[in-house]
Amino acid sequence: MYLSSVARSLSRGTRPSQFAVSTFLSAFSLAPNHHHHPQQQQTRWSSHSPMGTPPANPRKKVTLPMLKEMHKKGDPITMITAHDFPSAHVADAAGMDIILVGDSLAMVALGMEDTSEVLVEEMLLHCRSVARATKAAFTVGDMPMGSYEIGPAQALETAIRFVKEGRVQGVKLEGGKEVVPTIEKITSVGIPVLGHVGLTPQRQNALGGFRVQGKTAAGAMKVLEDALAVQEAGCFAVVIEAVPPEVAALITQKLSIPTIGIGAGNGCSGQVLVQVDMTGNFPPGRRIPKFAKQYGNVWAESFRAIETYREEVKSRQYPAPEHTYSMKEEELNRFVEAVNGV
Ligand code: KIV
Repeated sequence: MYLSSVARSLSRGTRPSQFAVSTFLSAFSLAPNHHHHPQQQQTRWSSHSPMGTPPANPRKKVTLPMLKEMHKKGDPITMITAHDFPSAHVADAAGMDIILVGDSLAMVALGMEDTSEVLVEEMLLHCRSVARATKAAFTVGDMPMGSYEIGPAQALETAIRFVKEGRVQGVKLEGGKEVVPTIEKITSVGIPVLGHVGLTPQRQNALGGFRVQGKTAAGAMKVLEDALAVQEAGCFAVVIEAVPPEVAALITQKLSIPTIGIGAGNGCSGQVLVQVDMTGNFPPGRRIPKFAKQYGNVWAESFRAIETYREEVKSRQYPAPEHTYSMKEEELNRFVEAVNGV
């Protein structure tokens, strides 16, 4: 009923009085505007436009031979975690060599207490989202606790899902000597595996919490033996987490594959950090690990922006005319006349 009467009025095509138009405009705080803010060129018309293409920083796709070459040259390998399209997009644009969809997403993206809760399906959803953004970085998915420990066959099945459904180029799993058959099985079908020794957070309950590893000679020897074992099994690189820097440096010297340190000092072949830690995307007062250098304050910037937006909505400063779409005056006049007739 309402729609048909509007349509009838519009089809009449007569000009409403100027008074009617100005009354309408002032009532709804509308003013015809044909200007765009110089710095805010309108390139999209919907908030739902895809933001994935073209790549923000086009460069060659990082491959295993390229990582090997970097290692040979002593060029440190850069790695960071990402858990969704935007966090992967920015990491890829900033030139990261490896992007890891770490199971730390359990906490940083899903609000869980620890990594033991996250499911393969949840990891896969996030891997797919990350993989759509990682046009250049070598992308690795973390196999969550419970998805590979039962045996090599289970592990291979999970790894294949990570590649086929998660669209990653490699997988990571935690452990040393005991996961050798598992790594051999996965790498035997051509899926690159990144090892993870030292502090292995998936086993935090057995380790008595998130504790530094390799602090005794015997403990350090165990980390070395684990690293050598996963290298032998076919890992292309190994993450060494939370060990004293001297231990990690010596292990790095003993290995022929790159070591990627996290809380393991400067003597590793590369470094990895959890993105939300290093960008400061967490509320004030939250504790981050000692090794995690905070390079930014994303929380503060997001908070400032959202709080300002809130204030501007409350005070009707936003949206300003430059944030609105214009229409031909003639069409507006016809619309006003139609509205008057409703
Ligand atoms: O899950 C994760 O983010 C990780 C890194 C800390 C290496 O395993």
